[in-house]
This record gives sequence, structure tokens and C-alpha cells, in this order.
Amino acid sequence: MTLYKASPESIELASRAIREGDVICMPTETVYGLAGDALNPASIEKIYNIKNRPLNNPLIVHVPVFEDIFKYASVTADSPEQHRLLKLRHFWPGPLTVILKRSPVLPSMVSAGGDTVAIRIPRHPVALAILSACRRPLAAPSANPSGYISPTCAEHVERMLGEKIGIIIDGGPSEVGLESTVLSLIGEKPCILRPGLLDAAQLSSALGEEVQYLSDSQTPAGTMPSPGLLSQHYSPRTPAFFYDQLKDSDYTDKRVGYLCFDQSVPMFKGTAHLEVIRLSGDNQQNAREIYAALHKLDQMSLDLIVVDKIPAVGAALAIMDRLNRATAHSSHKS
Ligand code: TXA
Ligand code: MG
Repeated sequence: MTLYKASPESIELASRAIREGDVICMPTETVYGLAGDALNPASIEKIYNIKNRPLNNPLIVHVPVFEDIFKYASVTADSPEQHRLLKLRHFWPGPLTVILKRSPVLPSMVSAGGDTVAIRIPRHPVALAILSACRRPLAAPSANPSGYISPTCAEHVERMLGEKIGIIIDGGPSEVGLESTVLSLIGEKPCILRPGLLDAAQLSSALGEEVQYLSDSQTPAGTMPSPGLLSQHYSPRTPAFFYDQLKDSDYTDKRVGYLCFDQSVPMFKGTAHLEVIRLSGDNQQNAREIYAALHKLDQMSLDLIVVDKIPAVGAALAIMDRLNRATAHSSHKS
């Protein structure tokens, strides 16, 4: 593995590798992505292997410009999907992924065999430069082993997948820090399959129609439920719990990591060691920092990570969604 600072030369190197069927890691504004040619089934297979991702979990296809969406999705002229896309256009490039019918030019493997496809236009200049230089749509899931916390800087990727990838391009810390909002445009009502920084209110107001979260409604017809919504996902290796899931005796002689938002730190009686990370910015800043905080705590050989809750509104809804998954390990599954 070689880690390259983003530069015209490293962007060219990465683009050439992609055209030759290799998989590289590139920065995006949300999280770092493991990118390969979305038109090449061998590249797609490599992505699944490197992540150890279940083959039923489809990938997101990244394109550089709005018009390209229509190359890789089948959108009928004058259809509700087309009208919705035009109303969403101003969110791109940015942290929004839409689900549409897959065009036959894309291998079905990119969609895990399904007939829909997830597409987005990333905002990070390095991702856009690689997309233009390689002239391919890029399949790019988050660059983490399946189920683990997403990477928001090149070092996270190096640590998690360095042995499995040839090229990592370092474009600095991701400015959004949480994965894109996944919005299904298929079916009667647009529906958010994965919450992100763009929330239902912003999307509803752009679309001029109600947008629901998946939990509020049924999976829309023709869409597969997002496997990224499996209850355990985005988890650190260290067992993680919400503060209110634990009692004092759970801390006895334990090495404890505590991730809180603006609260004062409660008494953790009898711990062998206590490590505190306090995120006290606005929720956009907290979203940007939360994965780095979890990665950091997970590196400290702790016995448990304790996280606090915040009211799940706006950007905090996406943060709480990820924390719910991080704490949903098997012993607490109902
Ligand atoms: O911000 C992001 O979206 C990042 C960056 C790298 O672009 N990518 C990312 O990809 O988070 P990934 O593969 O880790 O998550 C994609 C999510 C998964 O939850 C997957 O199940 C869902 O999108 N998804 C992909 N295709 C889908 C489809 N056709 N129908 C429903 N859900 C889909
Ligand atoms: Mg992911």
C-alpha cells in the first residue's frame, strides 16, 4: 500500500489504476470510499472482497456531473423520477444518494443483482478530479471492513485496509463526516433509506412533497431494503453502549471510554481507567468528528465505550442513527 497526498500526479496514477481494473481509496466529502470501475464486474468483485461485504449489499455509483445520472439510471422522460431529480439537482455535487431504476449498461453486480441503483455526485475536488480523469462511473462504498466504522481520513483507511489496497489518496479529513443521505425516488413517495446531513425537511421542501424515513413507512415498491440499515453496522470492535444501558457495577475495574456531547461527565465509579472525548460543537461539527472519536477510542484497548444520546433532530438524527447501530451489538439485540 502507498499513501499519496492528493496531487495531479497521484490523481492520474489512481485513475490509471482504476481503468486497469484496480480498486483504490479516494477521499469524498462524506467518508473515504473504496473506488473501482462500476462498468467492470472484476473491479466490483474486488471491492466486495476487500471489504468482506455481503454480496446482497449493493454499492453506490459515483458520477461527476448531473447529466451522467441518466446514463446509468433508466429515467423515463416526464416521469415523476425525472421531475424529482430536477428538483434535487442543486444538492449536487453533495452528500445525497438517490435510488433509481438501474440502466442495463451497469453490471447487475453493482446493485447486488437488484434492478435499482444508488447514484451520487460527490463534492470533494479530489473525487471529482479522479472521476473526470478516469472517465468511468465509480462504484465506491465506504473504505472500511463491512460492519465497521467508516473512515473520515486517510489514516483510518491505512489502518483498516492498508494491506489490501495498493493506492490511498489523502485528501484531508472529510468535511461532512457521515455517509450520504440515501433517498429512494422509486415508488409513490420519496423515502429516506439512510439518514444523513441532508434531512427530510430539506428534501421535502426541495421536492414539494412529503419525504418519509424508512422507519415511518414500508419499503417502497421495487426497492430493496437498504442492507446498510441492518441494526448492527458502523460499529467499533470495542463493545459500545449508551450510558443509560449500563449500571455502576458494569464499570468496576474496567477501562472505559466515554463519548459525550455537551454534558458534564458523570461519576464512573471503580473504573480502572477513564478516557473522555467531548464533542461540543454544533451538530454539523459533531457529525464531522464523531467517527474520528470512535476510531480513536477503539484504538485504546478499552473494555467498553459509553456514548451519550442527543435529541434526534436535524443533523443529530443522522448522528443518533449511527450511534444506535454502533451500540446494537448482539448481546443487546432483541
Ligand atoms: O457517503 C457515502 O454514501 C459514501 C461515500 C464513499 O460516497 N459511500 C457509502 O457507501 O456510504 P456504502 O456502500 O458504505 O453505503 C451504501 C448504502 C448501503 O446502506 C446500501 O445498502 C445502500 O446504500 N444502497 C446501495 N444501493 C442500493 C439500492 N439499490 N437500494 C437500496 N439501498 C441501496
Ligand atoms: Mg458503508
